[in-house]
Amino acid sequence: MNEKTVGLSNTFKGNTTPKNFTKNPIKGTKFTIAISSAKGGVGKSTFAMNFALALKSLNYKVGILDADIYGPSLPKMMSIKEKPKSEDGKYMIPIEQYGIQCMSIGFLVDEETPMIWRGPMVTSAIKTFTQKVLWKNLDFIIIDMPPGTGDTQLTFAQEIKVDGVIIVSTPQDIALLDVKRGIKMFDKLKVPILGLVDNMSFFETDEGKKYNIFGKDGVEKVANNFKKKFLGQIPLNIDLRIAADTGKPLVEANSNHKITKIFVEIAKKINELF
Ligand SMILES: Nc1ncnc2c1ncn2[C@@H]1O[C@H](COP(=O)(O)OP(=O)(O)O)[C@@H](O)[C@H]1O
Ligand SMILES: [Mg+2]
Repeated sequence: MNEKTVGLSNTFKGNTTPKNFTKNPIKGTKFTIAISSAKGGVGKSTFAMNFALALKSLNYKVGILDADIYGPSLPKMMSIKEKPKSEDGKYMIPIEQYGIQCMSIGFLVDEETPMIWRGPMVTSAIKTFTQKVLWKNLDFIIIDMPPGTGDTQLTFAQEIKVDGVIIVSTPQDIALLDVKRGIKMFDKLKVPILGLVDNMSFFETDEGKKYNIFGKDGVEKVANNFKKKFLGQIPLNIDLRIAADTGKPLVEANSNHKITKIFVEIAKKINELF
């Protein structure tokens, strides 16, 4: 193999260092928290919805922005079928469900319509959702991010004032690899990482036997290695999955559930940081 083609050239590496962008705050909210993970299917959306509702249970006003343009989950997870309205034709009014103000690209297209868009269109959709939505008197807006380290992450990191990011992952090696990439990206772009969450940590039988299906303590180890806060473990739980599929997140459906209590604990830990 030709030595010269191996690795990225210094010019290319130079181009990936952040420039100085203006970071616009999302109007109508005090704090913006992004829920991220570099990998898909690890439970970001499930975490985002339940975490938002846990903050609501602590008496905060909360909104959720579904920033996963190619795979929006919010309409189904929060059972929203309406389309957002606009009074002036310029600004959209978020749809309120379970006391949470919600916005998603999924409100604007049919459930099964694929978004066949190039990067710049995604960036422009993100700007519309952060600048042209009438979020009202929110304490927190929770951003449900897509997987990866692509256009959406970059837009949020460089052009929107994000107060912190929570990284969700399963404890599996293959997922952790992406977590490390995610941590490095946010560190490089100077977005504060509030902490890491270990999702699908274990499965517990009715008899109390625990199975570490995706491995054990992986996320906590990565958190320690990178000197980030570890926020807690959420087990693999059938009620959490059913609640997500039926459109009423568990924290809203059952305030006494042991998993709900874990979300509330995490919400308290995050709230203490603000
Ligand atoms: N702790 C958990 N226990 C059981 N099912 C879960 C858990 N976390 C997520 N799920 C399920 O896993 C799937 C993927 O979760 P999702 O939140 O959509 O991931 P992501 O947003 O990272 O792609 C969904 O079907 C969801 O209901
Ligand atoms: Mg998702």
